Order: sequence, then structure tokens, then C-alpha cells
Amino acid sequence: MNNIILVGMMGSGKSTIGKIVADKLNMKYMDLDQMIEQMQGLTISRIFEMYGEEKFRTLETDLIYKISDVNGAVISTGGGIVLNPVNTIQMKQTGTIFYLEGSLEQLRSNLEGETDHRPMLKANSLDTILRVRSGLYTSTAHHIISINNQTKEAIADQI
Ligand code: S3P
Repeated sequence: MNNIILVGMMGSGKSTIGKIVADKLNMKYMDLDQMIEQMQGLTISRIFEMYGEEKFRTLETDLIYKISDVNGAVISTGGGIVLNPVNTIQMKQTGTIFYLEGSLEQLRSNLEGETDHRPMLKANSLDTILRVRSGLYTSTAHHIISINNQTKEAIADQI
């Protein structure tokens, strides 16, 4: 399938960069977190509060399957998408996967004032999450793009 899929940590800029790439390439833009919020009529934070992380992960996996016939889209994913190997297998069949790789310092700086609507950060520190996931992002991605000290435009150009 002719899609571009962005994976990476919270704060790596997947949504903003995804929109820029979609504009530049004249492709559709899809944001999985936003789609889950629309389908459930609830914010991600409320989904975590009401039903817990496990339910959210099930919704993510269901959606990955639902979009498997999409073509010509830039798709940004939630940071935890790589936690389930089933998602990874499905994404590899859906498009070319780019990991937006950022250092802990860069991610912390990007997330300043942006942590309220990120339920994972209530129970876990950013460095622990990064440590657990960095190998998963790397093994999932076809391409790794560094976001450190780069403008979002420059990152989009590389993609
Ligand atoms: C999550 C990241 C969030 C969202 C949810 C869980 C995670 O998306 O999917 O809060 O586990 O890292 P962003 O990466 O867009 O913040």
C-alpha cells in the first residue's frame, strides 16, 4: 500500500509533521488518535480514565485493521502503537514506516506544557517509556529520521 506511516514517542511531532508531509505530497492525512476520539466521542484521556489503557490499545489495534485498505495517506500513530507486535505486522503491510527519533532532551523540550492530555505520563516517566520502546520503534521502522535540533519543515522534507 502506498502510505506513509509515522511512529515515535509522544512529543516527536508525528501529527504536525504528518500534516506538512501530506500537504507537500498532496496526500490525505490521517491521525489515528484523532480518529479514535471521533469514533468513541471521547478524548484519549477520558478513554484511559473510564476504560483503562488496555481498552485503548484494543481500539488502536481494531483501527489499524480497519485502515488496511487505505491508499495514498500520511498516517500518524499514537506513541504506543509499537507495543503490540500485531500492530507492527499490520502496519508493515499498510505502508512505509518512518520512526521520528528524538533524544530524551529533545522530547522533553517538545513536551513542555503539552503533558496534560497524555495519560501515559501520569503513571510513567518519559525516560522509562523511551527505554522500553526505542528498540521497538527501530525494529518496526523502514526509515529512521532524527528530529533533534531540526525544524518540522526540515524533518518533513527528509521524509
Ligand atoms: C500514547 C501516546 C499518545 C496517545 C495515548 C498513548 C503512548 O499519542 O496515543 O495517550 O502510549 O505513548 P501521541 O504519541 O500522539 O502523544
